[in-house]
Amino acid sequence: MLDVNNIRKDFPILHRQVNGKPLIYFDNAATSQTPQQVIDVIVDYYSNYNANIHRGVHSLSQEATDAYEQARLKIQNHFNAKHSHEIIYTSGTTHGINLIANGFSSLLQKGDEIIVSALEHHSNIVPWQMLCERTGAILKVIPMNQNGELVLSEFDSILNDNTKLVFVNHISNALGTINPIKYIITEAHKFGAVVLVDGAQSCPHIKPDVQALDVDFYVCSAHKICGPTGVGMLYGKEEWLKKLPPYQGGGEMIAEVSFEKTTYADLPHKFEAGTPNICGGIAFGAALDYMNRIGFANISAYENELLKYATEQLQQIEGLKIYGTAKEKTSVISFNVGNIHPYDIGTILDKMGIAVRTGHHCAQPIMDYFKIPGTIRASFMFYNTKEEIDTFITALKKAVMMLS
Ligand code: ALA
Repeated sequence: MLDVNNIRKDFPILHRQVNGKPLIYFDNAATSQTPQQVIDVIVDYYSNYNANIHRGVHSLSQEATDAYEQARLKIQNHFNAKHSHEIIYTSGTTHGINLIANGFSSLLQKGDEIIVSALEHHSNIVPWQMLCERTGAILKVIPMNQNGELVLSEFDSILNDNTKLVFVNHISNALGTINPIKYIITEAHKFGAVVLVDGAQSCPHIKPDVQALDVDFYVCSAHKICGPTGVGMLYGKEEWLKKLPPYQGGGEMIAEVSFEKTTYADLPHKFEAGTPNICGGIAFGAALDYMNRIGFANISAYENELLKYATEQLQQIEGLKIYGTAKEKTSVISFNVGNIHPYDIGTILDKMGIAVRTGHHCAQPIMDYFKIPGTIRASFMFYNTKEEIDTFITALKKAVMMLS
């Protein structure tokens, strides 16, 4: 089982004060915190072997290249991809999604249909709208119900032979709903549609197996998984990555260049133009090592306890409404109290050292569905505690009293 007191020792930031109070960090769905083990890897890189990769014959370049490619193998193993060249380094989830959306510009035609879900983050809506504008494809939406669950019977009815692409998140960032992606992938494939899953919010909590899921593309960001910002990965099935054109032109992604004609490098380099976030990639691998040492079964069991405990405590506050009550959900709780604006509660909580996110969480269609401007969102990771939840509940009650 998970020893949270020991784990907390790994995270220097959890021991600082904010506004004179011990920090309680409940904004993990926005970004997770970084353990010393990962910070050490970053310091070691810049202290000892900072160099450009795949380019130099000198030792530093070799060391950096080896570490960067080792990290790619760790990512491959973590997600159980068949080939390491199916793992493309990106700057994060948004980059991965845009890479795919851009690639399909040349493969879609007018009248083709794209399906997204009502639970998407803006980063999994806007690139597809832009793709529809470029190609004349039509965007369709799987609706949600009051619990924040997708209505699968509607999905079944909008799927058809014109459906070319289906995009869903594995877990909703705003509500915490775990979507039935295996079902969605299986049904979409019956119509020959390609499926991309946005794993930004799932990867901190569960370990996806891309082969078992049979998913075509899966994307995530390292900073949600105890790694640094500015790096992420796109998994793509080899056959699809081969079919798609490069996203950006530049160094590293070419085989040969002349003014008459350029040929492209093999996977994964075809999609990795320019000097990448080398240190970030290496630290991404270290973050996965760290999470795997704790173990995802332990992580999700512990986080489920936190979710259950916090939900029970919150439900006792008069006038508090939780948005997102799906049977399958992770440790994200979105709520409002009466007519109090989420921003006001968030500001008072911050004065008490508690970090939550307030607003629409880059998911305005979800807020529109519930007819609210936004919510307060508390999101937990395996390094949070029940004691922190107790302090948060007391602080929240105080904030509500001050604002009522
Ligand atoms: N997508 C991140 C969040 O949900 C930033 O907060």
